[in-house]
Amino acid sequence: MTPQLVSKLPQAGTTIFTVMSQLAQEHGAVNLGQGFPDFSMPAALHQKVAQAMADGFNQYTHMNGLPDLRQALAVKAAGLYGAVLDPQTDITITPGATYAIYTALTAILHPGDEVIVFEPAYDSYIPNILTNGAVPVRISLEYPSYQIPWDKVREAITPRTRLIMVNSPHNPTGAVLSADDLTTLEAITNNTNILVLSDEVYEHLVFDGLAHASVLRSKALMERSFVCFSFGKTFHCTGWKMGYCMAPAALMKEFRKIHQFNAFTCDTPKQVALAAYLNESDAYLELGKEMQEKRDHLRSLLADTPFRCIPSHGSYFECYAYDGFSSAPDKELAITLTREAGVATIPVSAFYLDGTDHQVLRFCFAKKTATLEAAVEKLKTYFNR
Ligand SMILES: Cc1ncc(COP(=O)(O)O)c(C=O)c1O
Repeated sequence: MTPQLVSKLPQAGTTIFTVMSQLAQEHGAVNLGQGFPDFSMPAALHQKVAQAMADGFNQYTHMNGLPDLRQALAVKAAGLYGAVLDPQTDITITPGATYAIYTALTAILHPGDEVIVFEPAYDSYIPNILTNGAVPVRISLEYPSYQIPWDKVREAITPRTRLIMVNSPHNPTGAVLSADDLTTLEAITNNTNILVLSDEVYEHLVFDGLAHASVLRSKALMERSFVCFSFGKTFHCTGWKMGYCMAPAALMKEFRKIHQFNAFTCDTPKQVALAAYLNESDAYLELGKEMQEKRDHLRSLLADTPFRCIPSHGSYFECYAYDGFSSAPDKELAITLTREAGVATIPVSAFYLDGTDHQVLRFCFAKKTATLEAAVEKLKTYFNR
């Protein structure tokens, strides 16, 4: 007899990123869909990994992360955001930011707890909430600015509200939070038991002279926040799946209880390399400028097409509306463009649980100049056919 299973995530299918990347491969399309760079990561960093392996750093390191790496991260957070973090108690290295987010949610959520989550949302958030028996309370970001409608947040709070999740710079839209947004979040959570999870994987990819509004800048928010980061996004090595979480000791204690019996620890040679590399602050301070040039280049190329830009201020992504040339649903158009124009993008409706469709596609510009140019040439050929 086949054993019976009750799925914890009965609605979950294959993620749109995998679907679109597979379709791109099948049709030989230029992939501006999935969020990964097609250019090389810094050679100095992977050379340090090779050196660490040759030097014998190949066994389990500390469960909470290599002490030198945690120390380097505490120094970086103090320098950039004025945050006071104890590397012993407040920082844990994880196998990627997605894992850090899942671990934080699993550490604190109980069945029936409510989590306020903004849509469009990075695809792991809602499944992670549901896996823990908690209830996602979905609020749509304002379209087309993709700002948080704080009045709706106030209205959504109930005695069961356990957590508010924020993400800046935002995937898929590139919207960023402002200092005022942090002040509002502070006021809303003040004197409550509500916690905050802040996904800041694109912290160094902020454009247009704006400053990254990290939750780490606010002492009041830091008392109630898990802040999650990704080395993969910062150093163009998404395949490394290395990240970390920062949180006050009481929250981190619970986080580590889950981590201890899951990954327990992560890749030692990469941690040795990252600890040394982080001492070179140029390694991350210039990243925003480089990525902004890519955003600007894609934007200027697409200006010659019927796509309408919805400006991004950070991340790897910019969204484009296509009401000027098609009324097709965004998933359908994304598939058509992959098959017929040879360019893969991501339909933004995939980031809403109910498939809300503003007819917008997400383009990833973390690509070589030649890739961006080839993609737009293909689109132009398609439009002129
Ligand atoms: C908003 C956001 N959070 C988390 C992640 C995942 O980071 P990692 O690859 O380190 O798990 C991504 C990756 O696309 C992302 O866009």
